[in-house]
Amino acid sequence: MDQIVIRGGQRLKGRIPISGAKNAALTLLPCALLTDEPLTLRNLPRLADVDGFGHLLNQLGCSTTIEGSRPEDFGRVMTARATTLTSTVAPYDIVRKMRASILVLGPLLARAGEATVSLPGGCAIGNRPIDLHLKALEAFGAEIELASGYVKAVAPGGRLAGGKFTFPVVSVGATENAVMAAVLAKGTCVLENAAREPEIVDLCNCLVAMGAHIEGIGTETLTIEGVDRLHGATYRVMADRIEAGSYACAAVITEGDVELVGAKASEMEATLAALREAGATVEETKAGIRVAMSGRAQPITLSTAPYPGFATDMQAQFMAMATLGTGASLFTETIFENRYMHVPELARMGCDIQVKGRTAVVRGVDKLIGAPVMATDLRASMSLIIAGLAAEGQTEVNRVYHLDRGYERLEEKLQAVGADIERISAG
Ligand code: EPZ
Repeated sequence: MDQIVIRGGQRLKGRIPISGAKNAALTLLPCALLTDEPLTLRNLPRLADVDGFGHLLNQLGCSTTIEGSRPEDFGRVMTARATTLTSTVAPYDIVRKMRASILVLGPLLARAGEATVSLPGGCAIGNRPIDLHLKALEAFGAEIELASGYVKAVAPGGRLAGGKFTFPVVSVGATENAVMAAVLAKGTCVLENAAREPEIVDLCNCLVAMGAHIEGIGTETLTIEGVDRLHGATYRVMADRIEAGSYACAAVITEGDVELVGAKASEMEATLAALREAGATVEETKAGIRVAMSGRAQPITLSTAPYPGFATDMQAQFMAMATLGTGASLFTETIFENRYMHVPELARMGCDIQVKGRTAVVRGVDKLIGAPVMATDLRASMSLIIAGLAAEGQTEVNRVYHLDRGYERLEEKLQAVGADIERISAG
């Protein structure tokens, strides 16, 4: 298994290109199942999860062709075409490796009137149920049964009728599945308390480009008037606001000055506010967002929340940034039940973090000491990289396959702004 080795102490200076958003790509790719015409996605990030989703689409009869990239994009161009579906089954051995596979449930139900998808099971950060996905689809007329670890969904008469569902808890994935199921329904579907993340806006905008009728995009109430068919489209994946926020934290902890090229301030206001609370200079530029810092981070108090609140996907990275700050910072993780697995690994580097239930208190220390550490999940592994960039001595981050799921060309991007970082392939 590959390892990333960092010799800390370098201030990050320069421009970091931000790739297309993983969590937008993973909900845009299944849209190809909704039409027999080609869907071309630009600025697609080169990530393990994106490749894995392409493999799943192929299993369903959807062809995927990589067409290089365009100069104005950092990512690749991929055309996906499901002329006819050869299967409506997403098998356990694929779904267990990539939970986002559950996002073929809605599109398969809409296109084929049926879907059989393995239950994704839990993951490191929580048990991640999908009950809200299923309840929303049932509200639109689907008949759902659970058997032998699989969800079997059927649209009576081959087409969802329409209906209304109010989410008791904001859920990104359930909103995405419900929207993709609704676009080809016979009637109108209404979702209340829907997730409003920018990735949902990207999904809705792509579906509208394919001929869908969606009102309320960007709000918590989505009204989808079903159409008989969708056509192909070409759509550019939004920039990854979480990748951008992660590199911003790296800039702050190393007292650097970086420009996050391609990042959109309007999609990450809570993140930028938190950076300013920590004392960073944050300003929009023509190309993206500049983040600069001198001195130690000020104490911050952050509680994760659905968008437009502070993103749970940014919690571990800000915690790493706070470890070298002054005073005590307070974190509350309200979304997932087990998202502090980076804490024991950060503690190996000399951080002072006390976790009590959903809250964590981080007391700033004068220095971190590089150490061998273990990545446990995607964002936790990024927090270890961030700490390693500022630690004295060498940090070896193991199990970097977690990182490769969500950060494209991480070591290249950091080397280009002065980090002493390399990947050691373990063959
Ligand atoms: C998406 O996961 C993201 N993944 C996650 O990013 C992100 O952390 C999360 O949204 C929250 O923003 C992708 O987009 C591929 P949820 P998702 O449904 O859709 C509960 C990363 O690091 N819930 O919004 O699975 C759930 O347990 C990943 O890039 C139910 O109870 O998240 C959680 O407590 C990690 N029943 C809360 O809702 C359901 O049916 C929010 O989960 C669904 C969710």
